[in-house]
Amino acid sequence: MKLPGEHIFVTGGAKGIGAAIVLDCAVNGAKVSFVDIDETAGKKLESELTSSGHKVSFAKADVANFEQLKSAFGALVSKLGDVTGVVNNAGVNSHADPVKMTDKEWDDFFAIDMKSIWLTAKLALPAMRKVNKGAIVNICSIHGRLTYPNFFPYGAAKSAVLGLTRNLALDEGKFNIRVNAVSPGYILTDLTKSWLKAESGREERSLSIQPSGRMGEPSEVAKVVTFLLSEKASFVSGADWAVDGGLGARSA
Ligand SMILES: NC(=O)c1ccc[n+]([C@@H]2O[C@H](COP(=O)([O-])OP(=O)(O)OC[C@H]3O[C@@H](n4cnc5c(N)ncnc54)[C@H](O)[C@@H]3O)[C@@H](O)[C@H]2O)c1
Repeated sequence: MKLPGEHIFVTGGAKGIGAAIVLDCAVNGAKVSFVDIDETAGKKLESELTSSGHKVSFAKADVANFEQLKSAFGALVSKLGDVTGVVNNAGVNSHADPVKMTDKEWDDFFAIDMKSIWLTAKLALPAMRKVNKGAIVNICSIHGRLTYPNFFPYGAAKSAVLGLTRNLALDEGKFNIRVNAVSPGYILTDLTKSWLKAESGREERSLSIQPSGRMGEPSEVAKVVTFLLSEKASFVSGADWAVDGGLGARSA
């Protein structure tokens, strides 16, 4: 058990990497709360984990809407106590053209992939500062450092997540709060599977550049997140942990 007695709050926890994080934290002894816009998937995961004896609680919230997020966060804290760890996982892709993209599309996208990370910090930091202890893990992407064409403005948002991670790590260090990023490469979630299938030959091409010859599983990201949340990572802060099977080491 790496997280006994902790209360870990996860965004976008109903499916994909987020659901694997919820499961891994629960298996490692934490109370876990999570929010998602997908109420059906959220309630299903909550009921599965609760019936196997874990303390897990779900609330519906859109991370881009501060009032919704604040109200869900408050309700989950009332149920499970103060949050000691946060995982900012909710995110969507953005394939846009810099000329065609509208102001509103930009703002809506950044509200999810970028601004929500500050919003959860705003909600969780007061209780963490009070007890001089806490950990935040931001799910970034290989696109925080390297990217490819036609993925505007995803690379910009994920690079900003790395900047926010570093600044929060500097500012919160005096409160013994650690802030790190995890940057997955290709991980086989619904999001990735549908993207791989969207163009003929894309899956084969994407596999051919993987040093490990395969793509990752959500549980392989979750294990790194649990480590970074835990005391085992007590001197790790302001870092970006790649979980990409070596893809980021590759030069064109
Ligand atoms: N899968 C990959 O290969 C990969 C690679 C690099 C980074 N990432 C990052 O990992 C994170 C999770 O991705 P995934 O592949 O598991 O995606 P996914 O689509 O499988 O799951 C994302 C979850 O977030 C929820 N969500 C989306 N928008 C939300 C919002 N506004 N408010 C609350 N919940 C919301 C979705 O309902 C879903 O449950 C994202 O931040 C993504 O950018 C994924």
